Amino acid sequence: MSTDATTLDIDTGATAVAHPNMALIKYWGKRDRDLILPVTGSLSMTLDIFPTTTHVRVGEQEADTIALDGRPADEVTTRRVTGFLRLVRDITGRHEAAAVDSVNSVPTGAGLASSASGFAALAAAACAAYDHSLTPRELSRLARRGSGSACRSVFGDFVVWHPGGSRPPRDDLGSYAEPVPAGDFDPAMVIAIVDGGGKAVSSRKAMQHTVETSPFYLPWAAGIAADLERMRAAIGRGDLQEVGRIAEHNALSMHATMLAARPAVRYLQAGTLRVLDAVAALRTGGIDAYATIDAGPNVAVLCDPRDEIRVARAVSELPDVSATHIAHRGPGTTVTAGAAA
Ligand code: PMV
Repeated sequence: MSTDATTLDIDTGATAVAHPNMALIKYWGKRDRDLILPVTGSLSMTLDIFPTTTHVRVGEQEADTIALDGRPADEVTTRRVTGFLRLVRDITGRHEAAAVDSVNSVPTGAGLASSASGFAALAAAACAAYDHSLTPRELSRLARRGSGSACRSVFGDFVVWHPGGSRPPRDDLGSYAEPVPAGDFDPAMVIAIVDGGGKAVSSRKAMQHTVETSPFYLPWAAGIAADLERMRAAIGRGDLQEVGRIAEHNALSMHATMLAARPAVRYLQAGTLRVLDAVAALRTGGIDAYATIDAGPNVAVLCDPRDEIRVARAVSELPDVSATHIAHRGPGTTVTAGAAA
């Protein structure tokens, strides 16, 4: 691929950029695996670090080709991306194959490789390359079909993903992401890398297993709607303590659902718990710091930006933490070059 402006002029393709998001209220569990409809709503902060840049060119080859970070994608990824491209072709009414070239700016081994920024960028670039224009809401519904959390990366700052109604067509049509009014609430997120390696179990498999076998799953899901309301209100008034408390409880109780699955899914490592101890110690010392953990061992710590260096120093001193990254709220997905957005 080339995202170089001088070569794009002679190229029919399109380029899009999307950022990862960190859920403060997690998506964990599908009620429809084909349409990727979640059991509950979720809410996230789009980050300003580690964007994915994806270029899609159509019509010059027989079959889809997929390159990630300059190398041909593995078989599983290729199957997933070509399945998604078929969906885009169904929507756009086009038939040509596509060449996808996607570059992640996540440092190797950061443990943050995100399907969210990947599928948000792919959805936007593919639609633009096939000359098909979607509203941001429609784009979020399309990105959702690649990876659920990708629908939230279509928008910047704070974003809610609605679960959608229970019957067609309200289920699919009603399950989209949209921005959450946040005023000037602009917290920092310090990401402590405990283990940068790949996941032992994919979030896709782990959430399904949890839904099917954990006695804690339904009670967890039943509490989400009320937490979403409280979280939206807290974001609106810039109440970091309330946002942090709800987010930390949501993440730890999500991990509790996995620990109670049969057999257990455990992403938490000893180092993860030591970061949680450090966050608790920061709070005891008067710093507003709250932890959230995705389907992995790394910890994201929400704090006031005035405390971010102190928080980053406290977690980076831990022997289990190999790197820290500081993020703030970031932009939504943009088409940076090419045809219709
Ligand atoms: O979108 P997926 O299939 O990668 O699942 C994301 C699951 C979590 O990251 C754990 C939670 C979330 O809402 O992002």
